[in-house]
Amino acid sequence: MAIPKSVDVLIIGSGAAGLSLALRLRADLEVAVIAKRALTEGNTLYAQGGISAVFDAGDSLQSHVQDTLVAGAGLCDQETVERVVERGPANIRWLFECGVEFTRDPKADGYHLTREGGHSHRRVVHAADATGKAVQLSLEECARARSNISFLEYHTAIDLITANRCGGQDNRCLGAYILNSHSGQVETFLARCVVIATGGASKVYLYTSNPDVATGDGIAMAWRAGCRVANMEFMQFHPTCLYHAKAKSFLISEALRGEGARLLLPDGERFMPRFDARAELAPRDIVARAIDHEIKRLGSKCVYLDISHRSADFVHHHFPTIYEHCLTLGLDITREPIPVVPAAHYTCGGIVTDANAHTDIPGLYAIGEASYTGLHGANRMASNSLLECLVFAELAAADIERQPRVQDSALSVPLWDASRASEPDEEVVISHNWEELRHFMWDYVGIVRTNKRLMRAKRRVDLLRQEIIENYSHFKVTTDLLELRNLVEVADLIIQSAMRRRESRGLHYTLDFPHQDPRQLAPTILIPDRYRPLQAI
Ligand code: FAD
Ligand code: SIN
Repeated sequence: MAIPKSVDVLIIGSGAAGLSLALRLRADLEVAVIAKRALTEGNTLYAQGGISAVFDAGDSLQSHVQDTLVAGAGLCDQETVERVVERGPANIRWLFECGVEFTRDPKADGYHLTREGGHSHRRVVHAADATGKAVQLSLEECARARSNISFLEYHTAIDLITANRCGGQDNRCLGAYILNSHSGQVETFLARCVVIATGGASKVYLYTSNPDVATGDGIAMAWRAGCRVANMEFMQFHPTCLYHAKAKSFLISEALRGEGARLLLPDGERFMPRFDARAELAPRDIVARAIDHEIKRLGSKCVYLDISHRSADFVHHHFPTIYEHCLTLGLDITREPIPVVPAAHYTCGGIVTDANAHTDIPGLYAIGEASYTGLHGANRMASNSLLECLVFAELAAADIERQPRVQDSALSVPLWDASRASEPDEEVVISHNWEELRHFMWDYVGIVRTNKRLMRAKRRVDLLRQEIIENYSHFKVTTDLLELRNLVEVADLIIQSAMRRRESRGLHYTLDFPHQDPRQLAPTILIPDRYRPLQAI
């Protein structure tokens, strides 16, 4: 019989949030980091533009706070914004100590700062156009050198184990059931503290900049266990993903626009000044909507982003990854404009947390893109996400270290029962359901919404959920099935939240309520009505 594994801290997710937390924790704590695929894989690896923090003498913390509040369209939590912005510079220095080689400014004595939409100053620290890779690889190297941290790759968390699901009185988190993809067995992990660092949910949409792991697992697990979830209607669409038959999810960084790239229609007309005085440097919601509008108006497949007026040396130096990638597809960005379309990029909402990353469940924390901290409001400003990962990892670590070392729970945690489960016989149905879900979310719950489209999506998501319960509850769990189940859960949370917001604000735009309503200044908070029994897939 399998014996439950037990650690002090179980971190589900190995991106910027999970690894920073693991490294911030004292070395006498036994820590396990689990990842659904290879440790490296996640949104962090693909981050391009950089991390925002105030370093320029002409900039100020107040200005960074103000820009974040403006982008967030009235829904940011000001205290959270101030806390995160204040801790920005120290966290960048910490990354530097961890070995991250940021681009330095040969002229100034410090980091090279680039610019992105919504920022009124140059304040984005970066490692050329592959900041996420530099961060991910350095954090991984540091974490692997620590003997108190163990890593379990190709392990997928299925559900959280809470005391009340084991006959206890409260809902303290005791651990998680985890599918070991190597053996196909479900293992039981117990921990004093469990941390969800599972990233976002943009794979719920057909077109996305995100890698395949971004299926909202942590948000769905926390919701099923009884956590509140907030602001899920605010899914961010990045304005410029490469439009090319052979390019899967490749982003063209906003930093190109920060360095002067212009958005053009197929006939070469520059159109952003018609939509916003900040033109290409307006916040993302405005730029993505303008592109969507022009594409629909002209019936074209894409618009174009042009940086060919900058010197080839400049482009090679600042955007080597984008240049090389486009060149492999036969596109020389130093000579010709880049075909681009908007795509789902970032989950602004998530699991409700407090100032120390605590969720509603004792012993359970959430950090990074999976969490809702109040930083982003109705629209995340560029490069504030990695910053949030770092700051809340730091705060969660301090809080975890303050927790008393409690006795092991007297409760007996049941092992996962697979005795009556059979092999799935229709893998093809799972992939059809995936496709169907991502299609209708794109068509009905995308950049522009209506009541009617949301109702259509709601009917379809209800049907899919029903089919998953009816068809799959007796099958052995696989990662594909678990992800589908979580995507359906998250799609439902997005639709429910969008239906509740009867106005247009930030990333949520609906033709039925095209204006902002000054009375709707509260976040959309969904409260779970019951704890779902375990193993009811
Ligand atoms: P991730 O880095 O996504 O890591 C999630 C981890 O959770 C992975 O290890 C995954 O395997 C694991 N996981 C998920 N589900 C499970 C499960 N069920 N069981 C076990 N493990 C699981 N932000 C910026 O601030 N600046 C940028 O320049 C920037 N550029 C971006 C460019 C791209 C193309 C993308 C996609 C995003 C970008 N972002 C940027 C956003 C930013 O990268 C992410 O928000 C951030 O990296 C999220 O980090 P994370 O640690 O929360 O999650
Ligand atoms: C980009 O480089 O455009 C992405 C930045 C971000 O998502 O913060």
